[in-house]
Amino acid sequence: MQFIDLKSQYAALKPQIDAGIQAVLDHGQYIMGPEVKALETRLAARTGVKHCVTVASGTEALLIALMALGVKAGDEVITSPFTFAATGEMIALLGAVPVFVDIQPDTCNIDPALIEAAITPRTRAIMPVSLYGQVADLAEINAIAATHGLAVIEDAAQSYGATCQGKPSCGASTIGCTSFFPSKPLGCYGDGGALFTDDDALAQAAREIRVHGQSARYTHTRIGVGGRMDTLQCAVVLAKLERFDWELQRRREIGARYHQLLAPLQSLGLGLLAVRPDRDCVWGQYTVFVPQRDRVQAALQAAGIPTAVHYPKPLHHQGAYAAYASADACPLSVTAGQTVMSLPMSPDLTEADQDQVVAALAAALQGLAA
Ligand SMILES: Cc1ncc(COP(=O)(O)O)c(C=O)c1O
Repeated sequence: MQFIDLKSQYAALKPQIDAGIQAVLDHGQYIMGPEVKALETRLAARTGVKHCVTVASGTEALLIALMALGVKAGDEVITSPFTFAATGEMIALLGAVPVFVDIQPDTCNIDPALIEAAITPRTRAIMPVSLYGQVADLAEINAIAATHGLAVIEDAAQSYGATCQGKPSCGASTIGCTSFFPSKPLGCYGDGGALFTDDDALAQAAREIRVHGQSARYTHTRIGVGGRMDTLQCAVVLAKLERFDWELQRRREIGARYHQLLAPLQSLGLGLLAVRPDRDCVWGQYTVFVPQRDRVQAALQAAGIPTAVHYPKPLHHQGAYAAYASADACPLSVTAGQTVMSLPMSPDLTEADQDQVVAALAAALQGLAA
């Protein structure tokens, strides 16, 4: 069994993907070809925002968003430590300070009730992460940000396609950033990403920053980066949009079925993520909480079931970020890091495979109890 089944997806979309790639090979505009604009137009429309700017990766989207907002050395950006490194990394790369705020233990998203206390005169932005495919509490976070005149950047690398209170992920904050890394809900065949905003000036800034700060050819009006998404990758995402709504529905169904099948295992110490009633989860990863994770993972591996850990340590327990918070800060993130384990998840996961995962996990947990 594969942790993420990209081969079945390619088999289902082969004619569209092959034709899309061939079209780029035929016209030869590998950089900023017509597929770039076509993808941006499609994604802006489905996200309900004025502007989509494709960029080289999800990491680059975060960097360009921060640069477009003018975040600079000494500024503070409030974020979750329980995330992939890129979130804190891009803040620190600009010389700004990632200010880590703990998570809600049942969703693993940043706890909005703790944000206000972390705001200082140097705070410029709040960067919630919509972890595992569930949008963070953006309504509460946007309200706090509005009171203090701050921007909100949603790190939606794992949640593109999800909605909260009827609003799409990436379309409900100052800037939304996503990733098209192959394993993400909407993935390409390499690196890619996008940022989304309704703000004309921020979109213009992001477009300039992604091409070395050029406002016109060889007119460099600001510091930028080489941050374009290439045309071939845009063609792949365009082709994948053909069945994206079906895939999102499958992700929701498979997540709900996992929840239903795994509920009885809670008596053996298994924990399930909570999905808030006003939103859905597209399960970028299907993640559970398990006791004695090493033993459970080993038992599943022996049964042919791949698992992964997203993420073993919060950022402030990583050497590169240790200076930004004391080790005893954000205790719920530390606990989550010790217990989270992700199970095989992709739109093409069969019921038979899912049943096998559940049976193996039940056996592993019973083995712990014996
Ligand atoms: C929460 C989060 N933020 C940012 C990123 C970075 O995206 P990319 O790998 O496309 O640079 C990822 C990717 O794993 C992620 O999961």
